Amino acid sequence: MNKRVLEFQEVTFSYKEKKQGHSVPVLDSLNIHIYDREFITIVGASGSGKSTLFRLITGLEEPAKGQIFINGQVHESRLGQTGYMPQHDLLMPWRTISENAALPLEVKGGHKEEARKKILPLLKEFGLEGMENRFPHELSGGMRQRVSFLRTVLSGSNVLLLDEPFSALDAITRLSMQEWLMTQWEKRKTTIVFITHDVNEALFLSDRIFIFSEKPVCSLQEVKVPLPRPRKLTDLNRPAILELKEDLLEKLRGKVKT
Ligand SMILES: Nc1ncnc2c1ncn2[C@@H]1O[C@H](COP(=O)(O)OP(=O)(O)OP(=O)(O)O)[C@@H](O)[C@H]1O
Ligand SMILES: [Mg+2]
Repeated sequence: MNKRVLEFQEVTFSYKEKKQGHSVPVLDSLNIHIYDREFITIVGASGSGKSTLFRLITGLEEPAKGQIFINGQVHESRLGQTGYMPQHDLLMPWRTISENAALPLEVKGGHKEEARKKILPLLKEFGLEGMENRFPHELSGGMRQRVSFLRTVLSGSNVLLLDEPFSALDAITRLSMQEWLMTQWEKRKTTIVFITHDVNEALFLSDRIFIFSEKPVCSLQEVKVPLPRPRKLTDLNRPAILELKEDLLEKLRGKVKT
């Protein structure tokens, strides 16, 4: 459990504001340590820099200062080092489900037909049997998210970054997707970093919750979830967890500036 798979050392990042061109700081000398097989969730107000953190990890943005380690190394290019499921479902509408899922294998130079063969049993496992020749618009929201997650898993990385994967789903589908994700995480033995606005979702899923509270973010407040695994949704009704939830909401409320 002690191996660090993701580490930020004194990472600083700002955006150039378009109109006046001055830079807006988002992260300032931020340190983060995430360990092998952890489930981490990140909560925080809208615009606090959560997705930016993922864009830095994936190599879509570069820090102004500091270093990002993935699996103990600073990589010349971080692109492709992690599995990334962006905030908006990016399935390609003109590709079938199996073609969409196969994308990471094709990007790596794999043969189309071989990719398809690899994907068929996984589609079954992901509850998408018989969907391989359908197009994204023919699937339910939960199914589309499972295809996106399958694509993220097929990146082959041990670190998966999921940016609000369930936010567009109805409450019931969302709960069943949380349970489903939990099983997948346990089975695949990966590390997951998961962004959400839903405190219950964070409590149910994670080992530790990071709170993005200041702007720029200089340090993360951290909450450990004292629930054994396997977990049930009803575990969220335990008094200690209800207390923790109040505490989390308080921390978040205090930070939202309107
Ligand atoms: N491409 C960009 N150019 C300039 N500023 C940006 C850009 N992308 C994000 N920002 C700014 O950086 C800040 C952090 O944005 P980010 O998308 O990381 O927030 P977030 O915490 O993911 O929010 P949400 O919960 O709404 O998804 C915001 O103030 C946003 O306006
Ligand atoms: Mg975001």
